Amino acid sequence: MRAPATTLIRPVEWRDGVLRILDQTRLPHEEVVLECRTVADVEAAIRRLAVRGAPALGIAAAHALGLAASSDPSTLRQAGERLVATRPTAVNIRWAVARVVRVADGGGDVLAEARAIEREDEDACARMGELGAALVPDGANILTHCNTGMLCTAGIGTAQGVIFTAHRAGKRVHVWVDETRPVLQGARLTSWELQRLGVPMTLVADTAAASLMARGLVDLVITGADRIAANGDVANKIGTYALAVLASHHGVPFYVAAPTSTVDLEKQSGSDIWVEERDVSELTAPFGVALAPDATPAFNPAFDVTPAGLVTAIVTERGIVREPYRERLRRLVGGDAA
Ligand code: MRU
Repeated sequence: MRAPATTLIRPVEWRDGVLRILDQTRLPHEEVVLECRTVADVEAAIRRLAVRGAPALGIAAAHALGLAASSDPSTLRQAGERLVATRPTAVNIRWAVARVVRVADGGGDVLAEARAIEREDEDACARMGELGAALVPDGANILTHCNTGMLCTAGIGTAQGVIFTAHRAGKRVHVWVDETRPVLQGARLTSWELQRLGVPMTLVADTAAASLMARGLVDLVITGADRIAANGDVANKIGTYALAVLASHHGVPFYVAAPTSTVDLEKQSGSDIWVEERDVSELTAPFGVALAPDATPAFNPAFDVTPAGLVTAIVTERGIVREPYRERLRRLVGGDAA
């Protein structure tokens, strides 16, 4: 039986010259929309994670350039640089900014390009869902990390889009949702989305993954990506690498779903990827609740890098890629002849 057609949740929406951002820091308990009228408004929203997730960040940045173009086109390039600096690991920001600036330089319409990026992402999600769903067996228990759904794309999501497509096709799936420390994108956002969509799920502490796998309760792991290097190394939310190591140890497939806009062929390997470090208050006093003693030294990298050798396959909108990643990603993304 097929689930009913889905109403997309729009993390960003352009309306009447204003970029409307659904403030994800207020979810799941409140749905508050921020109205961004300047590039600085969008920058601030990105920095405080009101909008997040690599594809949605690219779409927000592209529309922010629409705001810059309508107020003072001479500020476009500088605005782009500021946007790229907000979340340095999420390559979709740089990718979208470069694309929009190129169009502007050629005398093209900035906003039309931003809209094209958005539409293409929606299509890419649908396609990744179709392709990736074939990897999901009926009855699968799936472990996922962070939030990779509608809240961070223009469509049904990347990894969550795969899960949702399998569910919608009638497969009986159940999702273990990692809470995703330190700012709980899994507990707050993925739980909210999956419950809206009627996908069976159970929230677990990040630290539960090893014992779930040891007990045979995980059939596959699927996550998104913030940047994929030319050799297939994957930068994603901190904790992803640990899951990949555990999956390898327990013989569980570890999949990554990401649009080709997340592949950065200029970065030869994961060691070339700049991992964003965020304010330590996310660890010491998350959501304003002081947990650690005052002035506790802390370290808060937002992402980690999973070596390609631990990745069973990468699902993109152009196909599913397996090792050897370097050659196959270059063909797929770089457009080399097969
Ligand atoms: O810090 P965040 O919440 O922006 O991190 C998001 C992730 O790590 C996602 O897995 C990634 O961006 C893929 S989103 C489709």
